[in-house]
Amino acid sequence: MATVPEGGAGQVARCPLILLGMGNVHRELLGILGRKAGRLAHRYGVAFPVVACADRSGFVVGPDAPGSRIPEAALLAAKARGEKVREAPGADPISLEEALDAAGPRGILLDAASMDVETGGIGLQAARAALSRGTSVVFANKSAIALAFDELEELAAASGAGLGWSATVCGGLPVVNTGSRDLVGAAFRRLRGVFNSTSNLVLGRMAEGMSLEEAVAEAQRRGIAETDPTNDLNGTDTALKLLILVRTVMRRKAFLAEVERTGIEAAPEPAADEVVRLIGEAAPDGDAVRMRVAPVAVPRDSFFGSIGTLDMAVEWETDLFSTQRLVATEGDAIPTAAAVLRDAVHIARGRPTGPALTMARS
Ligand SMILES: NC(=O)c1ccc[n+]([C@@H]2O[C@H](COP(=O)([O-])OP(=O)(O)OC[C@H]3O[C@@H](n4cnc5c(N)ncnc54)[C@H](OP(=O)(O)O)[C@@H]3O)[C@@H](O)[C@H]2O)c1
Repeated sequence: MATVPEGGAGQVARCPLILLGMGNVHRELLGILGRKAGRLAHRYGVAFPVVACADRSGFVVGPDAPGSRIPEAALLAAKARGEKVREAPGADPISLEEALDAAGPRGILLDAASMDVETGGIGLQAARAALSRGTSVVFANKSAIALAFDELEELAAASGAGLGWSATVCGGLPVVNTGSRDLVGAAFRRLRGVFNSTSNLVLGRMAEGMSLEEAVAEAQRRGIAETDPTNDLNGTDTALKLLILVRTVMRRKAFLAEVERTGIEAAPEPAADEVVRLIGEAAPDGDAVRMRVAPVAVPRDSFFGSIGTLDMAVEWETDLFSTQRLVATEGDAIPTAAAVLRDAVHIARGRPTGPALTMARS
């Protein structure tokens, strides 16, 4: 894709966005784009007009497209009323192809649609179409990266499009970008994490005496749980994040079916000095990788035992960089939306994560 030249005010390049999904993440993203427009223009020389967006009803012309008849506020108000984007007053339906045409050569498709762990869903379908024609793609939705990373990376490398997925693991915590860029030359001995904030919040609140239903409702109010929290609680979301790290940071071949999975319904009874965490763990074993997700009782004074109910945490052990630990406290979807924006800015500035990683492939 064409990239934004270095420079500040006066050299602002427009990188049109297509928003796939109009839930928590993209609603927060729209807020950030509004609040940070000046900073994005002056510091990074980029503007991100929204030229198309989509929910389950399909794609519509976005609020910033030329001739659009739907202001952003009307779109957000329609979603707040529980309506579909195509029901909003002034909404003009378009196809995915028309949305990609409207985005043009500097366009970026942002996928924050619901997960589809069986097929990759609309996100994978739209990403294939976008990357094949050189339109960059940034994911918050894990499905496509977890199921088809190799294919997407090859499509991006072939067309010169950018590919970003740092929002797919631990929201705003820079696990994917740091892990893939900065652990140069390292071999992993072990990688563990509390990757799913909903299950961590639910386990923490239940330990405080709250019911499962009340704890899930709190996670949904905060915008950190899926509309359907099943995958958060049964370990599937954690397994997908573990798989993404194994594929894109450890750079090992691995598949979802190989992840041994137990959800929080099988949580062990902790001792007085223990707490339960849903932990994903991957360890190389010859040419293979052992991957496991399970609720585990850990000592309160251990790294994973000491994190808070709104925290996500990762620990990796490597030969060159010893043991490193990252923790983030995220009580809403804003850091995830900010991670989507960070990848979009890196791509706009010519630092696409996908092709750069291809060069570094082991
Ligand atoms: N929330 C977080 O903190 C967080 C953190 C990291 C990653 N993520 C990931 O980011 C994605 C979005 O999360 P969210 O919290 O924003 O979810 P959400 O509030 O449930 O929103 C999902 C959106 O996807 C849309 N969608 C579903 N199927 C679609 C289809 N076939 N075509 C077009 N749009 C479709 C939904 O449309 P309707 O509005 O019509 O239902 C909805 O607007 C998820 O994959 C999630 O796993 C979220």
